[in-house]
Amino acid sequence: MAKLHTVLLNVFLHPLRTLNNLDRQFWKSPAMSRFLTRQFHKMYYDTEKRTWGNTFWFGVQVNKCPLDLWIYQEIMHEVRPDVIIECGTAAGGSAMYLANMLDIMGKGKVLSVDINPFDGRPKHPRVTYILGSSTADDVVEQVKSHIAANDKVLVILDSDHSMRHVYNELRIYSKLVQPGSYVIVEDSNQNGYPVSPFYGPGPMEALKKFVAEDASFTIDLSREKFYLTFNPRGYLKRIR
Ligand SMILES: C[S@@+](CC[C@H](N)C(=O)[O-])C[C@H]1O[C@@H](n2cnc3c(N)ncnc32)[C@H](O)[C@@H]1O
Repeated sequence: MAKLHTVLLNVFLHPLRTLNNLDRQFWKSPAMSRFLTRQFHKMYYDTEKRTWGNTFWFGVQVNKCPLDLWIYQEIMHEVRPDVIIECGTAAGGSAMYLANMLDIMGKGKVLSVDINPFDGRPKHPRVTYILGSSTADDVVEQVKSHIAANDKVLVILDSDHSMRHVYNELRIYSKLVQPGSYVIVEDSNQNGYPVSPFYGPGPMEALKKFVAEDASFTIDLSREKFYLTFNPRGYLKRIR
C-alpha cells in the first residue's frame, strides 16, 4: 500500500520522470526489444535509397549498415589480420574502409574479389582487386598466392547471396582462417531474417548448414550487440 502511495505521489510530483521510467521499462523487456529491433531493421532495409544504398566511405559507395562497419573495426583490432579477403567488391567502398582501418593499424592488405569490373574503383596500396567468381579455381589460387604461411586471415563474404554460392565460399575460404579469426557472412538478414521474405535460401541457410557440419566455427552472437545487424548469426568465429 505504501508503495502504491509512493508511486502515485511520484506521478503527481514528477510526471515526466515517471513517464520516462515507464518508457525505459517498455523497451527493456526482451520481447519488446526484439519487436522494436525487427521493425527498425525492416524500415532501415526497405528504405534503401535513404539508408544503405546511400552510404559512403569518403565518397565511395559502401553497401553496408554502419553498425556492422563498427563491428568490423572492433574485430580487426582484436584479430589484427595480415590479410582480409573480401568476396564482392562492387564500387570498392568497403575495400577502402578496410584498407583505411589497416592504415591505422599499420599493417595488412585487402584482397577484394568481384565477378564484375567496376569503372573508377578507388586505388589504395593495400588493396588488390581480383576479377572473377569467388568460387572459381583460378580465382581461389590467385587469392592463395597472396597469403604467406603465418598470415592471419579474416574473410568477408558479400558476393552472390544464393545459399549454394555462399555455402561453397564458406567451404573454400574457411580453411584459410586461423583460430580466433572470423568468416563474416553478410546479408544473412535475407529470406525473412527479417527482410526480403521471398528471397529464397540465402546466406542464413548456407551458414546454418556450414556450422552444423564444421565444429571448428561458432556463431558469435556478441557481435550483434548493437541490435541491428545485416549479418544476423553471420559472425562466424573459428574456435579451434
Ligand atoms: C553486395 S555487392 C558488394 C558490396 C560491397 N562489398 C560493399 O560493401 O560495398 C555484391 C557484389 O558481388 C559481386 N558478385 C556477384 N556474384 C559474384 C561471384 N560469383 N563472385 C564474386 N563476386 C560476385 C557483384 O558483382 C557485386 O559487385
